[in-house]
Amino acid sequence: MTGRIAQSFIDRVLDRTDLVDLIDRRVKLKRSGKNYSACCPFHQEKTPSFTVSREKQFYYCFGCGASGNALSFLMDYEHQGFIDALKQLASPLGLDLPDTAETPTAREDHAPLLAALEFANRSFKLQLRHHPQKQRAIAYLKQRGITGDIAREFSLGYAPPGWDHLAKQAMPPELRQGLLTTGLLIERKDSGQACYDAMRDRIIFPIRDFRGRIIGLGGRVLNDDKPKYLNSPESIIFHKGRELYGLYEAKQAGKIKQLVVVEGYMDVIALAQHGLRFAVATLGTATSTTHIERMFRLVDHLIFCFDGDEAGRRAAWKAVNACLPVITDGKRLGFMFLPEGDDPDSLVRREGAAAFAERMQQAEGLADFMFRHQSADLNLESLEDKAVLAQRLRPLMDQISAGIYLDLLRQRLASITGLHEAPANPTEQPASPAPRTATPHPFKRRPPTRASTSLCDKALRLLLQNTQLATELDLPDLKDLPLEHVDLLQAVLDLIAQHPHISTAGMLGFWHGTDIGADLAILAATEFLLPEHDSHQEIADISNRFHVVYLEHRIDMLTTELTQNPSMQLLSEQVILHQELENRRRQGHH
Ligand code: UTP
Ligand code: MN
Repeated sequence: MTGRIAQSFIDRVLDRTDLVDLIDRRVKLKRSGKNYSACCPFHQEKTPSFTVSREKQFYYCFGCGASGNALSFLMDYEHQGFIDALKQLASPLGLDLPDTAETPTAREDHAPLLAALEFANRSFKLQLRHHPQKQRAIAYLKQRGITGDIAREFSLGYAPPGWDHLAKQAMPPELRQGLLTTGLLIERKDSGQACYDAMRDRIIFPIRDFRGRIIGLGGRVLNDDKPKYLNSPESIIFHKGRELYGLYEAKQAGKIKQLVVVEGYMDVIALAQHGLRFAVATLGTATSTTHIERMFRLVDHLIFCFDGDEAGRRAAWKAVNACLPVITDGKRLGFMFLPEGDDPDSLVRREGAAAFAERMQQAEGLADFMFRHQSADLNLESLEDKAVLAQRLRPLMDQISAGIYLDLLRQRLASITGLHEAPANPTEQPASPAPRTATPHPFKRRPPTRASTSLCDKALRLLLQNTQLATELDLPDLKDLPLEHVDLLQAVLDLIAQHPHISTAGMLGFWHGTDIGADLAILAATEFLLPEHDSHQEIADISNRFHVVYLEHRIDMLTTELTQNPSMQLLSEQVILHQELENRRRQGHH
């Protein structure tokens, strides 16, 4: 159904889209446990049975069975075709639809790097609780006013002193390679094999992407050593110009109406500690247009926080330039300058949350800041200086897409300079799509009354939970096995074989609108309700059970054949199969 569009492109778009945000902008979602819910937009109902998982980027209605990913949601909700929906998702991401077929370039494999960061962070978190020297780290956090709750919420950790906390741990080679690639382990130049830890005796701040996956780590020294912070290097999963520290945590804390952009990890955490749970920080880089686009997709109001010194003003001006291309009517920007020598962390601790919020209220608007900043060295009584101001501001305003906001800026400039410009051409204004109301979804199949213990369903549920588990499944030839849904399982395995890195959402999208898609959605939805469990053990058990079924089936076939054609060869084959079956059954009982 994806036509000529490369699956890798679709995956990239889905990977950078957050389904929860996408749906929430159209259907107000409420948090319920780790999922979100609402009254289903696809059928009439009074109590919410429409469920959205951020983790899985998948929605399901327990009432009407509507289900799918970001693409299918847009297609169904806004009655769009596949290509239009894909375009609508891709364009704010700055991605253009390729018109070529699947490119032969290898898919970037993010999974090993994500796994390595997850592993390292888990290990550092444990050290904060159990390392003999944990007290130093805890004392440091305490002295900075951070409680255990906030430390837990931001998953803070402690990389212990020494060179080999990570390096000495036993781990599979892929994991070690992942730690090397993400810069957490460093290869020693003198000996080819050995490596050592990059983060030593530091407080660890995991950096999550907007879905909560750890994509990098920051580490702060406990004293005045240099460098104060060490950060993960950029990698295929970590782009500093795109990611914002604290964005995921802010989204998790509840509904956010505004975001405050600060400079440092500790600023985000100190504000959260004081109940201001909407701060994000750039990662030691200037604010980029991508950062701003990303935030504007969540909220309409951004407030930038800068130091009160010259460097702060320079940084603010950079932020203005990054904002101009994406500012549209209905979006608000504020610029807030702190007293010299303060940062949000020191300020909120000294003055408290209310005073900080008051300062946010007082933030200067984009237009005010632009005019003030550009006329600071001018005398606006003088005709020449008026012209200078107009000259300075015109190229900036040219970057703003037409709209009421731009007209207001032009008017303001005109009222200061007395120079009138042609008004913006109203036809330039991008047409905003008329809101479409959802029509009831054609009633999809109800969950079939399947015994959830069916072997194939179990395997499918695991694969829907994590498609990567396919590599761990050790299955016999499934052809002709007398099992319910074996065809479904085969189809899923084939798809994963073709697209080894496909996600659950990608898979559901692939079959969206087909019978296979409907069946899989039901299984994936059951998985919504299941607690976390040890999938590795389950995989091993299930694999074993498939072999038992396979052997039993082969033995049955042989028995039939033997009645017609008793031969020594078939007989000995049957004996061997019986032996294998015994082994498998014994394994099943451990
Ligand atoms: P700051 O020095 O303002 O950090 O640098 P901070 O968060 O206020 O740190 P504390 O309060 O002294 O603990 C702002 C940001 O710049 C990056 C980090 O992202 C930091 O949060 N930075 C700073 C580095 O990457 N490396 C450094 O050595 C210093
Ligand atoms: Mn600070």
